[in-house]
Amino acid sequence: MIKKSYATEIEDILSRYPTKRSAVLPLMHLAQQEYGYMSDEAKREVAEILDLDPTHILSIAGFYTLYYEEPVGRYVLEVCNDLACALRGADDFLDMVLGKLDVDLHGTTDDGLFTVKNVMCIGACDRAPVLQCNLKFHEHLDEAKFDALVDQWRSDSAEQTSIVDQIIAGRTE
Ligand code: FES
Repeated sequence: MIKKSYATEIEDILSRYPTKRSAVLPLMHLAQQEYGYMSDEAKREVAEILDLDPTHILSIAGFYTLYYEEPVGRYVLEVCNDLACALRGADDFLDMVLGKLDVDLHGTTDDGLFTVKNVMCIGACDRAPVLQCNLKFHEHLDEAKFDALVDQWRSDSAEQTSIVDQIIAGRTE
């Protein structure tokens, strides 16, 4: 429950807003960080903290692309292929990304590492092709740069997994 695990953070967030309901977006980010997506439980918890109806949270989650209504991979790659980016080759870039990762649009790779989505303008039209990965922008992309990023993400993930394995092994020994 985020109410228990993040009591201090929640208090801090609420203190920055004039009314409880104004804190809905950061609290949703916190819940999503905890659950990996805006699960029913996550929506219910945020609604309860803010004294809102869960349908209110549901409508916000459906409106903003940065809130995920389904489970996603460790890395969510959001490729902009809106008009300005499309004119700079974003559709071909997106096809290349899907092909390289062998995944359907809005799907997640079998290893659970990558989810690929297309999004509307993210405000980096002059730096296309551009993608956002877990809120970080990667700009002026091409195939070679994308390959390097994928290698980096895979290696970061393996490193994190191995640290988690060591912690778990330490606990069970
Ligand atoms: S149209 Fe893609 S960032 Fe603006």
